[in-house]
Parts: sequence; C-alpha cells; structure tokens
Amino acid sequence: MVRQDCGSCHGLYLTGGLGPALTREALADKPLDSMASTIYGGRPGTPMAPWKAMLSEAEALWIAQQLMAGFPEPEKDSR
Ligand code: HEC
Repeated sequence: MVRQDCGSCHGLYLTGGLGPALTREALADKPLDSMASTIYGGRPGTPMAPWKAMLSEAEALWIAQQLMAGFPEPEKDSR
C-alpha cells in the first residue's frame, strides 16, 4: 500500500520523484514524530497530502518507523 500510494510521488523504490526520497539514508537525521505528523497531517503548501482520511495516527507512526528502519526492498532490487 505504501509503495503504491506513496510511490506515485516518492518513487517506486521510495528514492524520490515528485516528493523527496524516503529511504532510510535520507531520513536518518529526521525526528520520528515529525515524520509521523507529516504523513498524518500532510505538509501545507506542498503536494504532500494529509493521509488522516485513510490512516490512523498510529498507522502513520508505524509507517514512519518502517521508513526509518529501512523499507523492505522489492525482490528484484539488487542494492
Ligand atoms: C501527491 C504526491 C505525494 C504523495 C501521494 C505522497 N507524498 Fe509524501 N511528500 C510529497 C512532497 C512533495 C513532499 C515534500 C514536502 C516538502 O517540500 O516539505 C513530501 C514529503 C514527505 C515526507 C517528509 C520527508 C522529509 O524529508 O521531510 C514524508 C515522511 C512523506 N512525504 C511520506 C509519505 C508517505 C508515507 C506517503 C504515503 C502514505 C506519501 N508521502 C505520499 C508528495 C507526496
């Protein structure tokens, strides 16, 4: 779900596209709670939309944690 919906802007490999990269490396120095609130509430004035209609706050936090831990790579990715 994250790869599909978020990937439309952040790239299929979450390495960036219209939105910035969401790889573990790119997010390493960002605070977890601000990641979660960006996902949940969106970021005003940017194409990053709020996901609160589709996600709970707990789910937004979960996604932020997954991203920071390194999102599982698609099987074919050889990184
Ligand atoms: C409509 C396009 C779009 C979609 C869909 C989208 N994003 Fe974003 N996202 C953006 C843009 C553009 C930014 C950069 C905002 C800015 O300039 O600060 C962003 C920023 C972010 C950030 C902050 C990154 C940072 O370095 O501060 C996170 C985290 C994030 N998005 C997660 C997600 C997640 C998770 C999803 C799926 C639930 C998602 N995004 C879906 C466009 C999108």
